Amino acid sequence: MSIFDRVTERSGGNAEKYALRQKLFGTEDVLPMWVADMDIETPLCVRTAVMKRAEHPVYGYEEMPRSAFEAQCAWMAARHGVTMAPEELFFSHSVVASISAAIAAFTEPGDEVVVQPPIYPPFVSTVRHSGRRVLSNPLRQDEEGIYRFDLEGLEKQITPKTKLLLLCSPHNPVGRVWERAELEALAAICLRHGITVFADEIHSDLIFAGHKHTPFVALGDAVRAMTMTALGPGKTFNVAGLAVSTVAITDTAMRTRFKAVYDTIHFAQGTVFGHAGFEAAYREGAAWLEALLVHLQGNVDRLADLAGRFDTIAFRPPEGTYLAWLDCRQMGFDSDKALREFFIREARLGLSPGISFGREGSGFMRLNFAVPTPTMDEALNRLEGALQRL
Ligand SMILES: Cc1ncc(COP(=O)(O)O)c(C=O)c1O
Repeated sequence: MSIFDRVTERSGGNAEKYALRQKLFGTEDVLPMWVADMDIETPLCVRTAVMKRAEHPVYGYEEMPRSAFEAQCAWMAARHGVTMAPEELFFSHSVVASISAAIAAFTEPGDEVVVQPPIYPPFVSTVRHSGRRVLSNPLRQDEEGIYRFDLEGLEKQITPKTKLLLLCSPHNPVGRVWERAELEALAAICLRHGITVFADEIHSDLIFAGHKHTPFVALGDAVRAMTMTALGPGKTFNVAGLAVSTVAITDTAMRTRFKAVYDTIHFAQGTVFGHAGFEAAYREGAAWLEALLVHLQGNVDRLADLAGRFDTIAFRPPEGTYLAWLDCRQMGFDSDKALREFFIREARLGLSPGISFGREGSGFMRLNFAVPTPTMDEALNRLEGALQRL
């Protein structure tokens, strides 16, 4: 049996995706396909490294070893063609915490931070919580329904207080893998206006055939000097629970500014298990990832096939990420609440409502298809039945 056909029971424990069903959906009777982790087992190379570390009987303070940073640098070179040095990398227990630290480091209260909704909600909440202003520059769908940056709209809105742009690349929830030319156009605007860029590239290893991720820092030295990038194995290898990622900053002055905040908050060094799992994933996980991508492609193809048979649901498969952005606007519901209820009661699926990614997500639902085959079978059956009854 393929590792991607095996269902591992996660309910009954503390897995957020399952434990929060009652709270979020008002029932346990939904297949949870919301939060962005996988119902697929973490690769064996990672588990083996963590178990080996667990055997050592002392779990005291431990520095993130240089060899772990080196492993990530080697991965970035081999997979994405960018050269990074361990000296450019900061450990972070959470990408969202890194965003908060970046906001504190590169903006003042009252400054504006650009976000491009629909967007992963913490992009907006971190800005608000830090007393900065959200400069909302929604993505726009072109004639073919492809989400694009609204560059004209951005130019019009920028003011002298616009200091930082939070880029999601690939984009959660719409699944775009931004093309180089699109990123270049965005970078040109940021360069012209002196806007620092936080590139959240946490989904950048999850790219489907026919698409290529372009790291923002690959756009040239000038762009690299105004960019910090969040990277990590959390999504790629399903190790969100190891709480380990990095922030890469090439420019020395930027690094100093970031470090001042970083030290104040005391990000510390992470966990002994995180260090072990991180290094093993990057050193030994490539073959597993290739197999995973084939499996995910199969899941998303089946979802697209199903959606293609109903005119009530429109679906353009994501170019990257394991998140499907379902356009349910033709279902005829008069509110996002009613749409959500339909998915809970009729489809018995626990999805993320599009509206939670900003008002631009109204009428959409996000479905996480990083599940083993039997779970996908069940999800598709439930969805098909509900759509037939609609
Ligand atoms: C774009 C993006 N950034 C960050 C995160 C969360 O990262 P972390 O758990 O490291 O804070 C997610 C999780 O879904 C995400 O989709």
